[in-house]
Amino acid sequence: MSREQILDILEQNRERHISGADLSRTLGVSRSAVWKQIETLRAQGYDIVGGHNQGYLLERAPDLLYPRELQKGLHTRSFGRQVYHLRSAGSTNQVAQDLARQGCPEGTLVVAEEQTAGRGRWQRPWHSPPEAGIWMSLVLRPQLAPYRVPQVTLVAGASCARTINEQLGLRTGIKWPNDIVYDGRKLCGILVEMEAAPEQVHFLVVGIGINVNQQPDDFPPELADRATSLSMIAGRPVPRVPLARRLLELFEEDYDRFCRSGFTAVREQWLACQATIGSAVQVQAGREEFSGVACGLDEDGSLLVRLHDGQIRRCIVGEVTLLR
Ligand code: BTN
Repeated sequence: MSREQILDILEQNRERHISGADLSRTLGVSRSAVWKQIETLRAQGYDIVGGHNQGYLLERAPDLLYPRELQKGLHTRSFGRQVYHLRSAGSTNQVAQDLARQGCPEGTLVVAEEQTAGRGRWQRPWHSPPEAGIWMSLVLRPQLAPYRVPQVTLVAGASCARTINEQLGLRTGIKWPNDIVYDGRKLCGILVEMEAAPEQVHFLVVGIGINVNQQPDDFPPELADRATSLSMIAGRPVPRVPLARRLLELFEEDYDRFCRSGFTAVREQWLACQATIGSAVQVQAGREEFSGVACGLDEDGSLLVRLHDGQIRRCIVGEVTLLR
């Protein structure tokens, strides 16, 4: 007997109590074995009312990113078909990289309730407090030359914005290449890491961090006026499981389109959610820094910036600051 079977039965009977005797008969184990498993499920956050004599009723599943919860009604081919759920990880990107090196399949997902060494772009730390956000990493194995990897980061950004906008009815924007911002504050960041030969990517790890249920005091002082969370915007707690599940579906859809037809197939979608073009920007590209007006997205995903002297600069990688 597994706890999963008990949960299956309780889920199929959300309207009535199921007696311990019925559970023990159906599963062929003692009533005390059933009780022990119920206690473990409660410790995992399942709100199960009742006891030995009243029977058991599942009132609420926890909003934790358990494989079982994420995979309930998940319509994907490979994304999230294999899930590693961790209470705490250093960095889910690191765990996913290790799994990728051991040969895990494309779409393998690592999620953690908390990260103690979450990493951001440009070697910055990523603040990832327990149960407050979606801290996840996906392993991808595209047939792709390394120079096209920045396009995958744009695809991931477009999918994140689409998911958040659809699920919460918001109009968030993408700051090139893939920060999701709302009212000038960052909601979501993406870090893509890769292992590749000069001609061919071996694997990518797409790490996505979405601030979901933090309150203003939860952010460290240096982020206080630059970061926000979905619940701060919506004014209510936001369930993480449906959001993560939908992101897996939309990201897989966009990624498949990208693999089949190239970046142009997703470019329009990125443009529909973008919040960069038309703004005055400052760009840090390696040691170089320049400012101008973001004036377009090139066919390959590069940002086009019109400098003050009218010249157009193409920017393949870099950090953009929107100037108000
Ligand atoms: C950024 O700097 O904007 C990128 C932030 C990426 C954070 C996510 S959280 C899950 C995954 N694991 C990490 O260590 N980083 C990414």
